Amino acid sequence: MKGTVEKARISDVNHMHHLITHFADKGEMLARPLSEMYENIRDYFVIRDNELIIACAALHVMWEDLAEIKSLAVAEESQRRGLGEQLVGACLKEAERLGMPTVFCLTYKPAFFEKFGFKQVDKMELPHKVWTECYRCPKFPNCDEIALVHHVDTGGQLG
Ligand SMILES: CC(C)(COP(=O)(O)OP(=O)(O)OC[C@H]1O[C@@H](n2cnc3c(N)ncnc32)[C@H](O)[C@@H]1OP(=O)(O)O)[C@@H](O)C(=O)NCCC(=O)NCCS
Repeated sequence: MKGTVEKARISDVNHMHHLITHFADKGEMLARPLSEMYENIRDYFVIRDNELIIACAALHVMWEDLAEIKSLAVAEESQRRGLGEQLVGACLKEAERLGMPTVFCLTYKPAFFEKFGFKQVDKMELPHKVWTECYRCPKFPNCDEIALVHHVDTGGQLG
């Protein structure tokens, strides 16, 4: 059973943080500080089961031609129901609406993103702007995530 994708509200931040921290503690994704999540609340999409957040993801604009999908997490008991796919779809649709030609992600789950047309690239191919955030990452400078990019059809608005 699929869910309904909605933009996140401030009151969702603690629940999303809890979900992300659960997987970060298992080494499956990077942790996000609450402060960063509040600052970037407009980036986040959620799927609820009643009032409980069961999945979230964010699309963060990096530059005029580049955005990142971040913080994609689906609660363990809700996985393999298509919710991750719905959230990637919502992020790509938002990129298209913005006229954003390229979306990338850094992940330990490249096979999941490849299902949606993302292609693996050498991290060093990503623009330097991407790395300005990395000094805050606990893994810096030993990033072991895999970079993938997706080219969005912007209908000729950009690029
Ligand atoms: C990775 C994750 C987001 C997938 O979410 P999900 O809701 O279970 O995925 P979906 O049900 O939408 O799966 C969509 C497709 O991807 C496949 N898929 C799901 N997880 C996969 C994985 N880890 N590797 C490869 N393919 C995967 C599904 O089989 C499905 O393919 P199909 O349509 O051919 O059957 C989820 O497992 C998760 O939150 N994991 C922990 C956090 C994490 O690793 N986040 C990753 C980004 S940093």
